[in-house]
Amino acid sequence: MKKQTTEKRPIKTLDRVLSKAGLASRTEALRLIQQGRVRVNGTIVRDVERWIDLERDRVSVDDRPLLRQKRIYLLLYKPPGYVTTRVDPQGRPTVYELLAEVRQWVFPVGRLDQDTSGLLLVTNDAQFAERMTNPDYKVPKTYLVKVVPRFSDDQLEQLRQGVVLKDGPTRPSIIQRLRDTGNHTFFEITITEGRNRQVRRMVEAVGGKTLKLVRVAVGGLQIERLPIGTYRELTAEELQVLWRTTKA
Ligand code: URA
Repeated sequence: MKKQTTEKRPIKTLDRVLSKAGLASRTEALRLIQQGRVRVNGTIVRDVERWIDLERDRVSVDDRPLLRQKRIYLLLYKPPGYVTTRVDPQGRPTVYELLAEVRQWVFPVGRLDQDTSGLLLVTNDAQFAERMTNPDYKVPKTYLVKVVPRFSDDQLEQLRQGVVLKDGPTRPSIIQRLRDTGNHTFFEITITEGRNRQVRRMVEAVGGKTLKLVRVAVGGLQIERLPIGTYRELTAEELQVLWRTTKA
C-alpha cells in the first residue's frame, strides 16, 4: 500500500504509528492491534493498515492515550556506546537508561548509531517526530566528523556534491574543513536526510573511514554545553525554531 501524505498532514498506517511512537517494533505493533488492545477514537481497531491522521485521530493502547498526553520535548546528549532502541537483544546500554527519571512515555526522534554521540531529541509527540525525520521536510542535521586518512579537497568536494550509496544518491551537503592532524581530517557536514549510517557510508564512498561522529545540531538547535549523558527540556523558543525549520 502506498504511503499517503498530504503536504502538511502526516497520515500513516496504524502499525506504523505505534512503532514510530517507539511503543513497539512493527511485529509487536501487529500483535497489539490483533489482540484488540488498540483503539482509534474510542473504537477497537484490528486493521493494521487503517490510515491514521496524526493531527486528528486519537490512538490509545490499553486505554492509555498515545497522542494526547502532555507533550514533552527533550534534548539528550547521547554518549557513544548507547543504542537508541528500547530493548537491545545484545544487552548493550540504551538511551532509555539515561532517561529513567522521565515519567512520560517517550521515544527518540530518529536514530543515532551506537558509536555516534551527540544531540538526540526525545519526545512523546509522534507528529513532531515525523516532521523531524521525514526527509521531505529537509531538517538540517550537522555532524562533526573525524576521518582517516587525511581528506583532499577533492574528497570533501565529492561529499559536498553528493555521493552514490547503495540506496541511491545523497543530496548535496554543506561541508566545512575544520583541521587536519597527522593522518586525520576533522570536518563538519550538514545533511538534510537521515538514512541509516548515512555519514559513515558517505565517508566510505569517498575512500575514508569515520573514527568519530558527533551530532552537534539539528534544525538550528545546538548541543552547546550540555554535559554528556544528560538531558534538558527544550524551551518554547527552541521548539518554535524547530517547527519553523519543517515549514520552510
Ligand atoms: N550518520 C551516521 O553514519 N550515523 C549516525 O548515527 C548518524 C548519521
